[in-house]
Amino acid sequence: MQKLKMALNQSVGQLQNSYESMPWDNKEFYANYLAQTFYYVRHSTRLLALSAGRLDYENQQNLHLRFLKHLGEEANHERLAINDLKNLGYTPKDYPELNSTRFFYEGQYYKIEHKDPLALMGYILYLEVLAQNICPPLAKKLTGLYGKKAVSFLLVHGEEDPHHVEEAQKLLASLGPPAIEIITENLIQSSAAFDLMMKEIEESTAVAKWRKTA
Ligand SMILES: [Fe+2]
Repeated sequence: MQKLKMALNQSVGQLQNSYESMPWDNKEFYANYLAQTFYYVRHSTRLLALSAGRLDYENQQNLHLRFLKHLGEEANHERLAINDLKNLGYTPKDYPELNSTRFFYEGQYYKIEHKDPLALMGYILYLEVLAQNICPPLAKKLTGLYGKKAVSFLLVHGEEDPHHVEEAQKLLASLGPPAIEIITENLIQSSAAFDLMMKEIEESTAVAKWRKTA
């Protein structure tokens, strides 16, 4: 458990530092970020459903019910990202799905099916702690730049995720070392993949701008 907490602090802390230097005042960068967010968030309910369906009645009923509840809470969250994007004047078609966005979520299907359905907790925990730490200050900054109507995804996640983190921590305390190990591995992997995605968003936005001006 200690290893998991350390990995979590390290990975979120790392991104928290680099988030501050990202070009959020560049509208195209933020729009691309929202489009990529849409592409991975639309898998959240699917991943939770897949994982929930693989948890057994005898020993994992509490976890099964918890995942179902969480699934309901995540429903339609991809629409928040689309609406924000629309209010900025874009649609997801303006920003195709990046390779690194697929790297981020595709492996989750493999881990659930072939390793342990609880592996998904590493991905969830990473995203929730990230939201808890980054969303409130970032949402404030972006609301000042683009208006509240273009920042609903970050506003909602800054408000909701502290409660999710609390619930996730309770759940983790009930798990044995083998599951915690798989969850920790996934958390570290998800963090590395998310970093890559943020870098590719920054690079692809710069390339698109260069193409337009060249
Ligand atoms: Fe969400």
